[in-house]
Amino acid sequence: MFLEPEEQQILDGEFGETRQQMMELLVGLGTVFGAERLVGIASAQVSGASYKTIGRWGLEWLQGLDARVAVPTVLNPIGMDRDRWREMGVPEEFAGKQEAVIDAYERLGIRLECTCTPYYLSNTHYGEHLAWAESSAVAYANSVIGARTNREGGPGALAAAIVGRTPYYGLHIFKNRQPSIGIAVDDPTAIKDAADYGALGYVAGKIVGNRIPLFSGIRPNRDHLKALGAAMAATGAVALYHVAGITPEARLPTFKADVPETVEIRMAEVREVFSSIEVDAIAVGCPHLSPAEMETLAGLLEGKKVKKPFFVFAARGVIAGNRPAVERIERSGARVYADTCVVVSPALDRFDAIMVNSGKALAYVPTMCGAVARIGTMEECVAVATA
Ligand code: F3S
Repeated sequence: MFLEPEEQQILDGEFGETRQQMMELLVGLGTVFGAERLVGIASAQVSGASYKTIGRWGLEWLQGLDARVAVPTVLNPIGMDRDRWREMGVPEEFAGKQEAVIDAYERLGIRLECTCTPYYLSNTHYGEHLAWAESSAVAYANSVIGARTNREGGPGALAAAIVGRTPYYGLHIFKNRQPSIGIAVDDPTAIKDAADYGALGYVAGKIVGNRIPLFSGIRPNRDHLKALGAAMAATGAVALYHVAGITPEARLPTFKADVPETVEIRMAEVREVFSSIEVDAIAVGCPHLSPAEMETLAGLLEGKKVKKPFFVFAARGVIAGNRPAVERIERSGARVYADTCVVVSPALDRFDAIMVNSGKALAYVPTMCGAVARIGTMEECVAVATA
């Protein structure tokens, strides 16, 4: 693998042991995946931030690192709201460990925005190279923005953040971004809400695996695309998808829409994902809510009181920028939490059945929270919470 002189110096240890280790990791990854060189990145998003997922050994590894990040870097959601963890019901012992993880990341110069929607907080541009780790953020960056990132592991994203570069392979290379399977839906007009797109993604991800799908016939907005990509990344390993006439690369004259096979998904299959089981909590904001989704939720909860715990998750910066909507939501008894989410917080482990409006949460809640999951639209979530 070709290295620039400065990259070679980092590898030789001239800029400290941590940077050397990080460069060794990047060169190792690049060698495995056949990268010819490294490429500079505009930003990084590091996963492995919740103590629930990294545990004691991960924390000790982080505490041993001694360097600062070279590019703007944020974290994936952690296990609790940094200010309101007691109110969430997070155990004190967990909170102490989570604080230690946060401190370790802060020492590396990472911004303490803990979110899977970093694109709401700082501009991410078409064609930019990134090293992002959280799978829904990766799918959004690649597909909706047209930026370029592989689905990084936590250590790979952290290494790229510290070195400011990542191996140039996979989705960083334009020719690798063409679709390899077509997806059609028998009744696209029936897909309206983000939960419908989440359920469609839940079904499609299992068919697609790690291929690059091209959807035709559907007309999603950006929040719908976020839900679709997140679910496909969870039940499959989709890091990039295209929607004909909608997503940026599918509108390029050079885009190759001829795929070797097209699969038709029947709406009956998508509807089967929905159920009406009893739940004891509701959680929305997977991926973290956009300002528009927050406004919609505030409108749906207006003048109502929730009778079951209702968790709402969003980026700290989005909450700060939308205080009136947050206050309207909280007047109903629902709670809007920053920094964390339904899957990575231990606070949701106490429930037996959780209602979500997300295909990704539907896939992960059973294994990560040990609860049964039910998907419904935002409107249905509010109806169940306030009934
Ligand atoms: Fe984000 Fe957590 Fe869902 S990281 S995509 S809210 S599982």
